[in-house]
Formats: sequence, C-alpha cells, structure tokens
Amino acid sequence: MKITVVGAGAVGATCADNIARRQLAQEVVLLDIKEGLSEGKALDMFQTATLNGFDTKITGSTGDYEKTKGSDVVVITSGIPRKPGMTREELIGINAGIVKGVAENILKYSPKAIIIIVSNPMDTMTYLAFKELGLPKKRIIGMGGILDSARFKTYLSMAMNVSPNDLHGMVIGGHGDTTMIPLTRLATYNGIPVSRFLSEEKLQQVAADTMVGGATLTKLIGTSAWYAPGAAVATLVESIVRDQKRIFPCSVYLNGEYGQKDICMGVPVVIGAGGWEKIISLRLSESEKAAFAKSADAVRNMNNVLTS
Ligand code: NAI
Repeated sequence: MKITVVGAGAVGATCADNIARRQLAQEVVLLDIKEGLSEGKALDMFQTATLNGFDTKITGSTGDYEKTKGSDVVVITSGIPRKPGMTREELIGINAGIVKGVAENILKYSPKAIIIIVSNPMDTMTYLAFKELGLPKKRIIGMGGILDSARFKTYLSMAMNVSPNDLHGMVIGGHGDTTMIPLTRLATYNGIPVSRFLSEEKLQQVAADTMVGGATLTKLIGTSAWYAPGAAVATLVESIVRDQKRIFPCSVYLNGEYGQKDICMGVPVVIGAGGWEKIISLRLSESEKAAFAKSADAVRNMNNVLTS
C-alpha cells in the first residue's frame, strides 16, 4: 500500500504522521511545492519510527510527482488555510487552481488512486475534482464530516461529562460554519438518545459550538487546526486500506440522494476498499430535510463561483 499526501503543511504532515503511526501503508510520500519542506518533515517523521514503533517508509518530494507513482490513496491538503475572521468560502479562487493542478498531476502517475479532498472550501473542491478528473464518483471523497462529527462528540462529552468514545453522532450537510447539520436528534450515548441526558437548550448549544468548532480554534491559534483534521483523514484512509466498511459522513457526488443532484455534500457513506461504496439513506425529520436543502443551496452558490 502506498499513500501520497499532497501539502506538507499543518494538516498534511499531521495526516502523514497518523497514517504512519497506524501502519496503514508500506510507503507514505509527502509532496509540497515549498523547497525542502516535505523532505524535512518526512525525514523528521521517519526518525520517529523506532520511537513510535512503525516501519512505514516516509519520504518527501518538492513537486516531483514521479515519486508519487502507483499510489493507492492520495490525500490533497494543498492550498491556503483560513486566517482569523476568514470563512472557508473566501479560499475558493486560490484553492481551486491549486487543487485542479495537483489532482491532474497525481492522476498522471496514479490513475487508479482513490482521491481524498481536504482543501477548503472542501465540498466545492470535491465537486471540482469530480467534474475535472472524470473519475468514477466512488473514488472521490471529501473529508469534513468526520472531523465535524468528532468535534460534535467532543462537545457532547464535555456537556455530559462522559467519555467521547461512548458517544455516537454525525454531522451531515456542507462543511461550513453555517451549512453543517449536527444531527442532535440521532446522537446517542451507547445507543441511548442523548436527549435523555441533555435539555433541548443544552443540545442546541452543543450544535452551535460544533458548527463554529473550526472558527473557535482559528481564533485561538491564529490559523486553522491540524491535530483533529489530520487524525480524521487518517481514520478515513484506514477504513479504505483495511476495507473496514465503516460509516462516515463524507462529501460525495449526489445524484438524487437526499433530494439533491449534481452537488457534493456530506452524507453518511460506507467506506471500504473501493472508496465510498454506498450512501446510507437516513430518515430525516422535516426540519432536518429543510436544513439539508438550505445547506445545499449555500454549497451550490459556492460551486457557481467556479464557473463565474
Ligand atoms: P498549510 O498552509 O499549513 O499547508 C498547506 C500546504 O500546501 C503548504 O505547505 C503549501 O506550500 C502547500 N501547497 C500550496 N500549493 C501547493 C501546490 N500547488 N502543490 C503542492 N503543495 C502546495 O495549511 P493547512 O493548515 O495544512 O490546511 C490545508 C488546507 O486544508 C486548507 O485549505 C484548509 O482550509 C483545509 N482544511 C480542511 C479541513 C477539512 O476538514 N476539510 C480541516 C482543516 C483544514
């Protein structure tokens, strides 16, 4: 198994580190355009092999795509991140050019790869990749909902004072502060609805905190987060390379599912060796359906920026 991570910045490097620690591949290639950055970070990371107990070989490459040849999975994190006060949407123009160029180069050397898009605005970048690359839809996966769901479960655990690992919950819809939909109604504490433990008011607060989860961190740190994003990508990669068939909310191309067509948005999908294998259809309430439709409108508006 060979995995390439494009972008050796905060998210890409953390993602590569998680992939190596979990022994998900024999080889990880980290690629960036900044001279020396990927080589340096890859070497630093490889020097943790005997300390962290893995034998995944990690190498870096400054823009040489030949080194990525034959990758099974490729993660694209290249682009610029948010600065305080910036929305993910404001990144669109710059990141669209970067993602398109990177994806085309990747495909020259790894035509069979499953492509994971992380760069923001992620739903639009996933849509762009789907439209431009002409790959089967199941091989293009946008990562955002896994991260948002992890944040949702963390805020739930803080409100309930219980282990986050006993909590189940998903965030669907667009990966944006105002477009994501934390499904509070369906969240459970080991199968028991969390509404048994939290008042509606507290649940709404958890949902609100989740939605601005990324912005809260950007404000605190001065740039966007990387620990949870990197780990979230690795969790997605793990389900692919180990063919785990786990269900995660991921941004995938919809063709009528959830009432939407010609758009990439976060819905629960089964993730396995083939990429996203199946969309899980949830029975949403009327208000959740309305929120999904509103979220789709916002994502579509952003997609329109690509062609305007
Ligand atoms: P960063 O600035 O630390 O790293 C980005 C890296 O991409 C830089 O090292 C830069 O040199 C590289 N890069 C730029 N153009 C390139 C090109 N053409 N080819 C190869 N490498 C190139 O940014 P960070 O924090 O790692 O974030 C990366 C992206 O991920 C941003 O767009 C950010 O908004 C997004 N993000 C998405 C999340 C999600 O859940 N989908 C979560 C967190 C961040």
